[in-house]
Amino acid sequence: MRALATLLCAALAGSLNAADADDAARRAQQRWLSSPHGPMLERIIPPYMRPSRLPEAASEGAQLTAKYCVQCHHLVSPAMHHAEKWPAIVERMLPRMRGGGNMGPVMLQMMADQGAPSPHESAVLTAYLQRHAQVRVSAEALPEAGRAGAWNSYVQACSQCHTVPDPRRHTRAEWPAVVARMERNMAWMNRIAGSQRDPREPQYRTRDIVDYLQRHARQ
Ligand code: HEC
Ligand code: HEC
Repeated sequence: MRALATLLCAALAGSLNAADADDAARRAQQRWLSSPHGPMLERIIPPYMRPSRLPEAASEGAQLTAKYCVQCHHLVSPAMHHAEKWPAIVERMLPRMRGGGNMGPVMLQMMADQGAPSPHESAVLTAYLQRHAQVRVSAEALPEAGRAGAWNSYVQACSQCHTVPDPRRHTRAEWPAVVARMERNMAWMNRIAGSQRDPREPQYRTRDIVDYLQRHARQ
């Protein structure tokens, strides 16, 4: 009985923390959104991820990610990039968080609440991002590799922002919703205020990509 009570308390504390973290992320968002660079910062990362949605949301790594990586743009998802990519990305963010770079003073203002992560904190959050990263596969090792058609469309369309995902990452039933979200991500991240879609961008049929992923999905 006591074990159960302890478990319940821990679960409750975890979800309360996650709700607090969502609130804190919303407050940070209000801050960067209302800065002069708001419209640019808003498009860097799409709005899907939030602290309570992070894998292992109650872990130290997730909490540090939710604390620091919401201060200038929407929260990143660890699964956006493969493990080898994360250290250099975090390294690129650190000077910004310390007020360096051409937008330094504006960025520093956004970080006023917590300052930059300590070396220990940035090591913990980098390890966390790597642990839950996208798994890297070689496009050439994917099914139907080298053929024109579906494989080609898939690799072209789905390697623009991150490494091309393994079709076995999701089941047949899951893929359509993931691809629909990616189309929203594309619209979000590629939209530059006032500009038209570039007609030279590769064209592809979503239906072909979903079919391809479903043919080779996890059973
Ligand atoms: C002080 C402001 C600031 C903070 C805090 C910040 N970023 Fe960024 N981030 C930026 C800016 C500006 C860009 C766009 C320019 C660029 O890509 O370097 C960006 C872009 C990104 C991108 C998109 C580019 C890509 O390579 O996919 C990722 C991913 C990213 N940040 C991850 C993070 C992570 C992880 C953290 C937390 C450790 C973080 N950011 C914290 C300012 C910040
Ligand atoms: C415009 C940039 C962009 C393009 C192009 C893109 N993605 Fe993503 N992808 C993201 C971002 C941002 C995330 C992390 C946030 C999220 O999960 O929505 C992500 C995460 C993922 C993930 C890990 C999360 C999960 O739910 O498993 C998968 C798988 C994925 N993308 C598949 C695809 C596929 C398939 C395509 C091609 C149809 C694609 N992506 C094209 C931006 C993009």
